[in-house]
Amino acid sequence: MPVPDFLPVVAIDGPAASGKSSTARMVAVALGFRQADSGALYRAVTAARIRKGGDPGTWTEASVLDAASGVSVVAQERVFGVRLAGEVIDEELRGPAVTASVSLIARMRGVRLWANARMRECALVGPIVVDGRDMGTVVFPDAVLKVWLIADTVERARRRSIEMLGRSPSDEELAREATDLERRDRGDSAQTQPAADAVVVDTTRLTQAEQVAQIVALAKTRLRGERAE
Ligand code: CDP
Ligand code: CDP
Repeated sequence: MPVPDFLPVVAIDGPAASGKSSTARMVAVALGFRQADSGALYRAVTAARIRKGGDPGTWTEASVLDAASGVSVVAQERVFGVRLAGEVIDEELRGPAVTASVSLIARMRGVRLWANARMRECALVGPIVVDGRDMGTVVFPDAVLKVWLIADTVERARRRSIEMLGRSPSDEELAREATDLERRDRGDSAQTQPAADAVVVDTTRLTQAEQVAQIVALAKTRLRGERAE
């Protein structure tokens, strides 16, 4: 489904914990767009399937898609919220059970088609900042701006640990988180590639405000260019 060019899309992709979702949300606010987080969709489908029980190794694509029917996306002022059975389940989405099984579910072709369709529906509502792994390559190849957000693994692990623990991690906690991120990066590698025309932003030594400002400036330049055409 082509996205009309009067409804612009900014796509922010990259590996786990590189800063995509929080950056995308701030960029959306600065541009007056909405943010839609594709990772939250994959996480919600995973949470839905976990609730139905069984060993993850035995989950079929059909049973996952059946569980996905309970997941909905709601347009809010600056963001698309993900719901399961109509409820906000943001904490469950970030929990260890979902994180451990999400890559398995995200590799199912039918699940990717389902998630891609939901993301494209969001883009029909209004201008949007999307984030994930394959927004710029597969889902929105015509995005006005594609950003590939990266950061060193240890820095990504430090950020994710602070987010989860609410404090600086010990060396052991940091090492465990880095191992976890690398495992998920390997599980996601098939769909985690930069688009050929993506702008690479390495956030390792940037503050979040700096990366947001860079991306907003790039987006504004591209949007001015689009309107002038
Ligand atoms: O925040 P983090 O990068 O740790 O993960 P996320 O963006 O919430 O995505 C969770 C998982 O969903 C990833 O590990 C991928 O398995 C999957 N995902 C995907 O396959 N494609 C996307 N466009 C977004 C997420
Ligand atoms: O979506 P993704 O998993 O790529 O990252 P996230 O969920 O936005 O989490 C990144 C965490 O790193 C957030 O707590 C950010 O505040 C923090 N952070 C960042 O994104 N960029 C920096 N330059 C510094 C910190």
